Amino acid sequence: MKLNQLSRFAVLASSLLLGTSIQAATVTISCGAVGTELDVCRDGVEAWSKKTGHEVKLVSTPNSSTERLSLYQQILSAQSTDIDVMQIDVVWPGMLEKHLLDLKSHTNGAEKDHFPSLVQNNTVNGRLVAMPWFTDAGVLYYRKDLLKKYGYEAPTTWEQLTDIANDVQAKERQAGNEQMWGYVWQGRAYEGLTCDALEWIYSYDGGTIIDPNGKVTINNPQAAKALDTAKGWIGTISPAGVLNYTEEEARGVFQSGNSVFMRNWPYAWALSQADDSPIKDKVGVVALPKGGEKGQHAGTLGGWQLAVSRYSKNPDIAADLVAYLTGYEEQKRRAIVGSYNPTIMALYKDQEVLEATPFFGSLYDTFANGVARPSTPTGDKYGRVSNAFFNSVHGVLSGNGNSQSALKSLEKQLKRLVR
Ligand code: GLC
Repeated sequence: MKLNQLSRFAVLASSLLLGTSIQAATVTISCGAVGTELDVCRDGVEAWSKKTGHEVKLVSTPNSSTERLSLYQQILSAQSTDIDVMQIDVVWPGMLEKHLLDLKSHTNGAEKDHFPSLVQNNTVNGRLVAMPWFTDAGVLYYRKDLLKKYGYEAPTTWEQLTDIANDVQAKERQAGNEQMWGYVWQGRAYEGLTCDALEWIYSYDGGTIIDPNGKVTINNPQAAKALDTAKGWIGTISPAGVLNYTEEEARGVFQSGNSVFMRNWPYAWALSQADDSPIKDKVGVVALPKGGEKGQHAGTLGGWQLAVSRYSKNPDIAADLVAYLTGYEEQKRRAIVGSYNPTIMALYKDQEVLEATPFFGSLYDTFANGVARPSTPTGDKYGRVSNAFFNSVHGVLSGNGNSQSALKSLEKQLKRLVR
């Protein structure tokens, strides 16, 4: 008997002794696999399995949130019983709600400890369709050592970032690193570009694509200015290949020491500080820059929730797994080993968490006030809204037409969509 089987046997034996009749079940969870995500998920799941005697199967899903969504939509609309617990993006509750269980009667009130805005985000038509697991906000990673070497502070505006990136990139290339770039980020036509572009636009006071009342606001000069700024980076401080980068491609370049700056989510921190990382101890993290002196810092709100499929054959057991994984101890462990931002507020005061990831403290406001994508006002149409937005932004960045006319036709398209 393997250790795992042995412990399951022990749990079952003791439940028999106590006169209860727990049947060991098998539940399936789908976890993301960006960076070390799948391993960190597996460790948590195994701990629950040991504790309860139930078996868990792990399925990994595509890294791109856009691809993952279409996979889930297929599985759920077929009412498949294959997956019990699903890791869902913060922008999906409105789209998947009708396929998900109301978790309220399973949480024992635990949602009160989480950021209220996330609980509200996950509550659709009065039903708590997912529990917050980890939150995210876009942040700016920079090479402390290189900025110091050339006498710079971390930038606070995109204009400063552009200047510093140009200068340090040129000097490092001259010094022999021909692979050096100034700035890497997420430019592929997928959900990640929606996040990056929303940050640029919001930071220049260009709004949130669609406002909280459902009004399409994207066609404005500040948004055009933001897109023009980003377009200016392609081929100068950012490789042309950035137009096909997701989170992991950007991290690959930055972590191998070949970029001065990177836009990414907090998960990249733990990986950059691993013992085998070439940039260990050389990285700083600050809020993303403002759009000019009069602009504002903006990090898009991201993050993942755990939900139980309505078609699960073991809804109670699946909900218990969700309760365990989203609970205090497990969120604490994940924050320490993987720099996944807790959604339980008290963990931002936990010394061990703050030691492992110091910017959880210094950037608390960035995480607490992330800029939301317009998923609440657009509900089940959000997927199409985001697709239209990232395709149009990708077109501008790729040099197909100017930003003003792209935003004008995007506005038309979005108005038709949300009508
Ligand atoms: C991160 C965020 C998620 C977002 C995705 C885009 O995983 O947590 O909210 O949709 O990146 O690539």
